[in-house]
Amino acid sequence: MTLKIGVLGGDGIGPEVAREALKVLDTICELRSFSTERIEWPYGADHCMATGGPGKGVVLPATIWNEIKELDAIFLGAIGDPRFEAGYLEFGIVGALRFTLDLYVNLRPIKLYSEDLCPLKGKGVKDLDLLVVRENTEDAYAGIMGHLKKNTPDEVAIQEMIYTRKGVERVIRYAYQKCMERKKNFKLSLVDKANAIRAHDIWRRTFAEVGREFPKVQQDAMYVDACTMWLVKNPESFDTVVTTNLFGDIITDLGAMLQGGLGIAAGGNIHPGKVSMFEPIHGSAPKYKGQNKANPLAAINAMGMLLDHVGRQEEAALVEKAVAGLLSTRRIPSLQAGAMPCDRIGDLVAAEIRTLDGDKPRKPKPAAGKRTLIAVGGRKKTARR
Ligand code: IPM
Ligand code: MG
Repeated sequence: MTLKIGVLGGDGIGPEVAREALKVLDTICELRSFSTERIEWPYGADHCMATGGPGKGVVLPATIWNEIKELDAIFLGAIGDPRFEAGYLEFGIVGALRFTLDLYVNLRPIKLYSEDLCPLKGKGVKDLDLLVVRENTEDAYAGIMGHLKKNTPDEVAIQEMIYTRKGVERVIRYAYQKCMERKKNFKLSLVDKANAIRAHDIWRRTFAEVGREFPKVQQDAMYVDACTMWLVKNPESFDTVVTTNLFGDIITDLGAMLQGGLGIAAGGNIHPGKVSMFEPIHGSAPKYKGQNKANPLAAINAMGMLLDHVGRQEEAALVEKAVAGLLSTRRIPSLQAGAMPCDRIGDLVAAEIRTLDGDKPRKPKPAAGKRTLIAVGGRKKTARR
């Protein structure tokens, strides 16, 4: 089997953490005898600056969509750069991938791997294990917005939260299915703000209606403000959560902190059965760029999720087991940036995977197997076996 993936390292610490995730992927390929074919895209802040800068330069070229059609999945490092207006690159790249590929699920597991990483008093690994299913193509992110009389004292700014029956229904159905697969407490929590955002009634109704297809799943609906409170007070009461795009963005950052920080939290932007995109949920952290300080575990976990999505469940479980083992035994004692070099963490995970796989631990080598590099119009094509 050859896994075809597109890699977009992006900005700030993105390329560094992506490199470690690819190191882990190479290790898995070597151990499990499958190969990857990769397109490495140069897009992001530097590429845009080099081709004309904000407003003129290339953010994502139109040709990328045809390249993506040939792929199994996409891996993204991080996007965002202080030289650009907030949101310009984020929407031009992350948003464009989510919307154009119709990646309607943003799947974000929140799991504690070691008690000492959790800032909550008295909570252990058994208390924090939930799965957030964030809607990923609608809400305030749909881009229906504008300014009137911009830069005058009478300025008006609007941004609409939109929800379609189709969009709400498909993500809710996905969440029920995931809840069934998890076999945890068979409880799905809908998180909305139906008491203030009256349009959220569409979520409440659809949640109840789709729920009839899943009689085994207990339905639990709560407002987002209450959710943030319960996440801190009783995180063990959660199993699977389904929520709007904006609330999902917010509560998964809270969740990331509960599991130890942004250095560990990963996400999948998914359209079941289609080319999907996997990324750490952290940003580009420009101040750590190129310093080998960023923690790549979130990116490595995202690679695990990618493997799961392409049907490599065993290998995905191996990645998670390695990360969990290194954290619970405190061989990686901290998730803070700078606590341990980025490449060292990648090496440790790769070595742990070898050990778990029954191979003798040995000094990690850079790249496994045969490698060819072909420069194709500003991007690199890499084949590894
Ligand atoms: C995320 C990020 C993005 C989002 C930003 C970069 C637009 O915070 O993936 O959670 O809000 O979706
Ligand atoms: Mg976010």
